[in-house]
Amino acid sequence: MTTTSPAAGSGTTGDGAPFLSVRDLRVHFSTEDGVVRAVDGLSFDVRRGRTLGIVGESGSGKSVATQAVLGLHDPARTTVSGTIDLDGQELITAGERALERLRGDKVAMIFQDPLTALSPYHTIGRQIGESFRKHRVASRREARDRAVEMLGKVGIPHPRLRVDDYPHQFSGGMRQRVMIAMALVCDPDLLIADEPTTALDVTVQAQILDLLLDLQREFGSAIIMITHDLGVVSRVSDDLVVMYAGRAVERGTVREVLRAPRHPYTWGLLTSMPRLRGDVGQDLVPIAGTPPSLLAPPPGCPFEPRCAFSTEVTGDVSCATDRPALSGTRDAACHLDPEQKRALFTERIQPRLR
Ligand SMILES: Nc1ncnc2c1ncn2[C@@H]1O[C@H](COP(=O)(O)OP(=O)(O)OP(=O)(O)O)[C@@H](O)[C@H]1O
Ligand SMILES: [Mg+2]
Repeated sequence: MTTTSPAAGSGTTGDGAPFLSVRDLRVHFSTEDGVVRAVDGLSFDVRRGRTLGIVGESGSGKSVATQAVLGLHDPARTTVSGTIDLDGQELITAGERALERLRGDKVAMIFQDPLTALSPYHTIGRQIGESFRKHRVASRREARDRAVEMLGKVGIPHPRLRVDDYPHQFSGGMRQRVMIAMALVCDPDLLIADEPTTALDVTVQAQILDLLLDLQREFGSAIIMITHDLGVVSRVSDDLVVMYAGRAVERGTVREVLRAPRHPYTWGLLTSMPRLRGDVGQDLVPIAGTPPSLLAPPPGCPFEPRCAFSTEVTGDVSCATDRPALSGTRDAACHLDPEQKRALFTERIQPRLR
């Protein structure tokens, strides 16, 4: 257990070897209609004690990518390639038994929908206790005590009385706390939180996010926070990956990406999000158009058909046919040149964010 270990690399510099390193990840599903390229060349790092936010519209591949870390895809219908290095262990080629040992122990996941992840037929004490006993030697009694302790930690009032309740006896926010208690019961080194607060009202959402941050401070875990919401990201994350159509289009620290975003898709997200702007202005503009088909993605930039700036690209590259690359820890996959991006953002986007 790593309960008391200091958060290695948790300073603001983020140096030190990444705890999780994903390179060129591809997750392709075989379907009746053809191959769905849900994740198609995604790379990112997560450092100990730091939180990586992953944002992107619905269907951009956030859940599919992170579920691949836990080896949750059906191998009969899914091709997963690339590398997923977790603290020196390669997970794509790891066998089911090795993955089974990791899940819930070194890596835990809070799923998008707590009702599908919790069984309605067992008390929450039993479910949290069983997650504990799967990886730790403990009697039923000890596991129950641990469940009570975790319920207390996540702020469930009267944990001793609530431990024998069933999931349906809890409100949505409380159920989400139960999920967090279950995910953290073995002190995971990496916590993947898939939209942990989307279904909750704003106040409860804020409480849950604060809770995750407190627990991170206490346990020094790394967190991947998946969300639609740049407001959530700016609140809890250190680093950020912006996903579009199965790939990363921009990445950097949260500060870098939110203060000086370099990809037209990120600009679109920023101008379409009310919460980050602190108001619900009339000039909120949703990004026009829809994401490309993942069955036959365009050869060039996947955002090109929706991009208002592709006509400004100069030189002999074509957004429609040449795929822009992403390199380094701070970059955007876009053919506009850096000076042009800065000018466009300052002149055309920033005024709309005030
Ligand atoms: N088992 C599957 N078979 C075929 N396609 C799938 C499968 N699972 C997911 N997909 C497709 O992969 C794409 C990415 O899905 P994913 O669930 O990762 O999106 P997401 O970014 O998490 O979206 P949301 O914000 O709505 O949760 C979607 O187009 C989805 O329809
Ligand atoms: Mg999802």
